[in-house]
Amino acid sequence: MAVIADKCPDITITVVDINKERIDAWNEENLEKLPIFEPGLSEKIKKCRGQNLFFSSEIEKNIQCADMIFISVNTPTKKKGLGAGQASDLKWVEACARQVAEFATGYTIVVEKSTLPVKTAEVIKNILAASQTNLEKTNKSFDVLSNPEFLAEGTAIKDLEDPDRVLIGGENQNAIDILSNIYNNWVPRKKILHTNIWSSELAKLTANAFLAQRISSINSISALCEATGASVSEVSRAIGSDKRIGSKFLDSGPGFGGSCFKKDILNLVYLSNYFGLPEVAEFWEQVTILNNWHQHRISKLIVKKLFGTITEKKICILGFSFKANTNDTRESSAIVICKDLLEEGARLSIHDPKVSEKQISSDLGVEPIAKENYPANKENNYGGWEFHSDILTAAKGSDAVVVLTEWEEYSTIQWDLIAKSMRKPSWVFDSRSIVVKEKVLKAGLNLWRLGDGN
Ligand code: UGA
Repeated sequence: MAVIADKCPDITITVVDINKERIDAWNEENLEKLPIFEPGLSEKIKKCRGQNLFFSSEIEKNIQCADMIFISVNTPTKKKGLGAGQASDLKWVEACARQVAEFATGYTIVVEKSTLPVKTAEVIKNILAASQTNLEKTNKSFDVLSNPEFLAEGTAIKDLEDPDRVLIGGENQNAIDILSNIYNNWVPRKKILHTNIWSSELAKLTANAFLAQRISSINSISALCEATGASVSEVSRAIGSDKRIGSKFLDSGPGFGGSCFKKDILNLVYLSNYFGLPEVAEFWEQVTILNNWHQHRISKLIVKKLFGTITEKKICILGFSFKANTNDTRESSAIVICKDLLEEGARLSIHDPKVSEKQISSDLGVEPIAKENYPANKENNYGGWEFHSDILTAAKGSDAVVVLTEWEEYSTIQWDLIAKSMRKPSWVFDSRSIVVKEKVLKAGLNLWRLGDGN
């Protein structure tokens, strides 16, 4: 919405949410304190907020005066009931549709922006249609469009300003044209694709499934590289130069995380089963099974290299977010790997430039070790963790440093300085292939790099 506000100064945009605290945070004077860290976002907010971009918790009033409403609520995986563990919970989407049905006036275009399983637009349509029959002489009318989002976190602004495509699914050409014209303020016409509503919804799930599949594919090969003496980065380079494969999204890492890939694949699995296609369901499920296996493979490998036990050992974790340039930790591989290491009795010392200690605590489900117990009061601290905002302090006294997120600053670490403060024999585990091999080895450290069989 910040990008639309920036590109379309004549359109007034109001972002509403039932969470008042969240809205207050978006209205925060100090732009450093916005709830989401995303490169370039605070500049857009600074430029547009109070001009044509507003944040409000007055939901009813803003629905009433809107010509177009984007539903952008979360659709988490259902925890219980029918489809538990796979299907999306659409209760927030439904709640929004009901509110829109109740408070909208005149002609309103409702755009589903949340990632939704195919045929959700029908639910929205039905709810909106019911509101028209409920109230006689209503002056309300609606059109529903699907407009899935393809931006990736960390590069969101760039992805929105120069998208590969904008996808609009719908039936009513007039509504499609109105939304297309908004994007056309900065996106060339030929990049704005029109499909039917179901293709649009399914295209979003399929795009994420294909992307995640690439990562599971290359991660599976990383294990084979380690076993055979090949190098996964060389294999990636070699296959990526084939135009049909392409070079992007071929970096082997600690497994994919983020709020979307796993959820969307599980949705696809659920839908395939629902429509009587178990082979299709199993095919896609394997992508998440491999991802899970791969995450645990890394923690097992760390234990193995550290002589089969990490109890009483200090391990420094560099990076907790699911990828660089975001403070988002949802489904981050770091959560799985850190939990495994804590379970084995290690003391973790975690660093991340953007993720807070509070967030890590909530993700791990364990409070950090009390500061008065620094340095290690061993009895109390097995299976515990501490947080440091400085890499050198985080690594001090550790047996191993494990790089889990590809933050730029981890590629320029002065390993000779770090090596001096570590316990010997000291290890560096690089799951993102970003440390400079020669510098690590020159500092007298042992190095394991994902997919490097040399
Ligand atoms: C993903 C898609 O890339 C977006 O197109 C989509 O709009 C978005 O989900 C969504 O559905 O909202 P995102 O989850 O923000 O975006 O991040 P990605 O860049 O796709 O990374 C996902 C995970 O894959 C990260 O853990 C990342 O480290 C990992 N990854 C990515 C690799 O391990 N190797 C790669 O080569 C690329």
